[in-house]
Amino acid sequence: MGAKVLIIGGGGREHALAWKIKQSPKVSEVYIAPGNGGTEQIGQNVPIAFTDVDGLLAFAQKTGIDLTAIGQEAASDAGVVDAFQAAGLAIFGPTKAATRIESSKAFSKQLMHEQHVPTAEFQTFTDVQAALEYADTRTFPLVIKASGLAEGKGVVIAESKDQAHQAIDDMMVKKIFKEAGNEIVIEEFLKGQEVSIHALCDGKNAVLFPASQDHKQVFDGGKGPNTGGMGVAAPLPWITEQHMEFVQEHVVRPTLEGLRAHEAPFTGCLYPGLMIDGPDVKVLEFNARFGDPEAETYLRLLDSDLYELLLSCIQGKLNPAGVTWKPGAAISVAVASGGYPGSYEKGLPISGIKEAEKIDGVVVLQAGTIRRDGKLLTNGGRVLYVTALGSSLEDARTKAYAAVKLIHFEGMHYRTDIGAAAERAG
Ligand code: AMP
Ligand code: GLY
Repeated sequence: MGAKVLIIGGGGREHALAWKIKQSPKVSEVYIAPGNGGTEQIGQNVPIAFTDVDGLLAFAQKTGIDLTAIGQEAASDAGVVDAFQAAGLAIFGPTKAATRIESSKAFSKQLMHEQHVPTAEFQTFTDVQAALEYADTRTFPLVIKASGLAEGKGVVIAESKDQAHQAIDDMMVKKIFKEAGNEIVIEEFLKGQEVSIHALCDGKNAVLFPASQDHKQVFDGGKGPNTGGMGVAAPLPWITEQHMEFVQEHVVRPTLEGLRAHEAPFTGCLYPGLMIDGPDVKVLEFNARFGDPEAETYLRLLDSDLYELLLSCIQGKLNPAGVTWKPGAAISVAVASGGYPGSYEKGLPISGIKEAEKIDGVVVLQAGTIRRDGKLLTNGGRVLYVTALGSSLEDARTKAYAAVKLIHFEGMHYRTDIGAAAERAG
């Protein structure tokens, strides 16, 4: 009898985690809470909300779960890891205290400052008047951020004094992000290319995943409003070994040290969002979780056994040199509901996934889907991620887009340029 694994979350990222971990010869059963229409083909969906700490713990104990992995960050922020650890259960993800590297931008910036991690020059404020006065002394564009979690919406790039004042007023006085805006960070605007890096951490050691690039805006060419991410390509050919060494030595290592010094050792996936300008690397923000759809892309490239890898992190025994990657490149293309990121219809039938997966190297990972009466229906904004592994980025792109064309639901849309700029960027 192999191990029983519980994955917490219900998006494409969790489908990717379940898909990859199920391939381990050491794993016999996978449970996903709450999961989606795709995860139930890999394991058993469990209808427990990811912030229901007691419910998740009771389920894990009753079922005899051997390893739990967190996808959805709200679970870490709710204290799921702390509760599982207190009960002596093996869980991959950061404690509530370590999650502050993402959930409090003020804490994260302070820690970067203490540890000399390169980041935009900044100040934090809890007083409106002081924030307005500081903004007046700065040059524009200027970046204003709500310190707390604001679903990725709490950042304003102010082009003028008026816009800066407006953003400060919205966050601190009008409270448009509620308590997330009680404290704000005002920082220097950085130029360059945005790059995502993920580091699997055991509290002390870390292994870096290859560099990747998300495409946040909804339309081709980076146009339209921001989304959770419309597609990711990895690795990026223009990122050098020097960049990666710099990230390991000057970003990840000192951050893990700083978290240990704050009595919040970090076990889980540390995901710095970086701005890279030539040889210059600066941290925009830290996330305390796998990216979505970064995870969908990375887990196509990972060759090592994910179960063993996560277990080694939990046990504080990660061996970075033992982690292996498949050759080539991977991409993920989000296929979204008509209207996303605005309002959209749900419950539309989806066809073509089986045909798409017949293309060599293609795996369709599901996010906003549900299965009802044996039919797969849309159930969210980003419905699926078509992922492809190829001998090169171009090969992966060709395969992924050939697969996307075989999939259909009413109103579906996607970007046609995922990974297209990756070769030449930088
Ligand atoms: P964050 O949630 O801090 O990553 O910010 C969201 C987005 O705002 C980032 O993905 C960047 O596109 C942009 N951004 C944040 N901080 C800066 C900065 N200091 N300079 C330029 N752009 C930024
Ligand atoms: N793909 C961006 C994120 O997960 O935050």
